[in-house]
Amino acid sequence: MTSSNAKYNPKYAPLFEPITFPNGQTLANRFSLNPITTNASSLEGFVTEEETNYAARRGKTAPLQITTAAYIEDYGQLFEYGPSVRDDRFIYGLSKLAEAMKKDGAKAILQLAHAGRFSKISLKDYGVVYGPSEMHLNTPVEHSVLEMSKRKIEHVIEQYAEATRRAIKAGFDGVEISNAQRLLPQQFFSPFSNERTDEYGPQSLENRARFGVEIMAAVQRVIDEEGAKDFILGFRGTPEETRGQEVGYTVDDFNKYFDMMMEVSNIGYYAIASWGRDIYKNTVRAGEHEGELVNKVVYDHVNKRVPVIATGGINNADKALEALENADMIGMSSVFVTEPDFVEKLEAGREDEIDLGISLEEVDDLAIPHRAFKDLVEFMDFGGSLPEETRDKFREMTNQTSTSYFKEFK
Ligand SMILES: Cc1cc2nc3c(=O)[nH]c(=O)nc-3n(C[C@H](O)[C@H](O)[C@H](O)COP(=O)(O)O)c2cc1C
Repeated sequence: MTSSNAKYNPKYAPLFEPITFPNGQTLANRFSLNPITTNASSLEGFVTEEETNYAARRGKTAPLQITTAAYIEDYGQLFEYGPSVRDDRFIYGLSKLAEAMKKDGAKAILQLAHAGRFSKISLKDYGVVYGPSEMHLNTPVEHSVLEMSKRKIEHVIEQYAEATRRAIKAGFDGVEISNAQRLLPQQFFSPFSNERTDEYGPQSLENRARFGVEIMAAVQRVIDEEGAKDFILGFRGTPEETRGQEVGYTVDDFNKYFDMMMEVSNIGYYAIASWGRDIYKNTVRAGEHEGELVNKVVYDHVNKRVPVIATGGINNADKALEALENADMIGMSSVFVTEPDFVEKLEAGREDEIDLGISLEEVDDLAIPHRAFKDLVEFMDFGGSLPEETRDKFREMTNQTSTSYFKEFK
C-alpha cells in the first residue's frame, strides 16, 4: 500500500487516487479485497492459523479487506469450514484474524451472514433450515424450510447485533451486512422466497424490506454504543434478482431498500454483488431502467452518498478501469487468491508480471490453506475470473490421491 514506488501507467491513475469514506477513513487506493471462503476455519467455526497466515500474506493486497462470511448462528451456516461469530468464544480467534488483516494498515471488515433456507450445514447438523416462509425443496436432499416465527426473527436480528459487538471486541474496523443474493435478508426481500402474510411479507415494499432494515438499525445501535466513531458499516447487495428469465425484485425496488436502510443506519459503503460472469457489466432486465447498466443505475442513485464498490469478473487492470466508470472502488475476490500482489505490481508498472496461474510450488508462498476450494471450485466456475487452467489445477490438487498436498484433508 505504499505509493513510494508508484510507476504505474498514467492511464491507471484513477485506480490509485485516495478515497475518503463518509466516516472520515481515508484509503490509499481504490481496491478492495472481497469475501472468499477458503475452507480454513475449524469444523466448530474457530479461526485457524492457516486462515490468519492467508490473511497476513494479503496484508498489502488492498486498503479495504472483507473476511469471508462469518455465520451469526448455527442455522445460518453456509460453508462447512467457515468462521463463526455466534458466541463470545469466537472473539479470540477473530481478533487474530483482524490483527493479520490490519498488520500493513488495511481496514479489516468482518462479513456477517445468515444463509437462511440455503444453510446446508444446518440441514446436515439439525435436519432443518429456516427461511421467510414454509417451503418444500428437493435439493440437496428433500426437505422442508421452516417459516421463521416473529420470535425467531427477533432472535436473528439480535444475533446480528451481538455479532457486531463481537466484531468490535475483536478489533475489526467494521462489519459488512450481506443482503446479497441467496442470503437471509435477501430471501425476505425477494417475492420468490417470501410468501408471508404478516408485516414481514411481500404485500408491500416496506414489509419485504422490514427484516433487512431492522437488522441495520440493530447493528447501528451497537456501533453507536460500543464502536469507534470511524467504525465502518458496509452493505453488500444484489441490486436485481433474476432466476433464469424471471425477475424477482427490480433495481428500482432495491434502490428504495437501500434508501430505507440509510434512514436507520450510517452505511459506509455499498458493494454490488451477484453470481455469474462479468457482473460489473450486467444490464437491467426490468423496470424503469431496463437495458441500462445495473452499476450505472445504482451509482447514479447512490449519488456519492457512500462509495460504491463494483465486483464480479474484474480480473485485469483495464476491466478495473472500466468498472470504475460506474463505481468508486473495485472489489476482487478470486484474483487475490492466486495473485495477492496484483495492486503492488500494477502500481509499480509491472503489470506484465501479474500471474493468475497456480502451481504446487507456489502454494506455500501464497499461504493457500490446505482445504481451500475443496467443494468450492464450482463457485469459481460461476464467475470464471481465474483462468480455466487455474481452476483445473485447484481441482487436481484437491483430488490427488497420492503425495497429495491436500490429501490429508479430503
Ligand atoms: C469460493 C468462493 C467463496 C466465496 N465466498 C463468499 C463469501 O463468503 N461471502 C460473500 O459475500 N461472497 C463470497 N463469494 C463471492 C465473491 O465475493 C464474489 O462476489 C465472486 O467471486 C465474484 O467476484 P470475483 O470475480 O472477483 O471472484 C465467494 C466466491 C467464491 C468463488
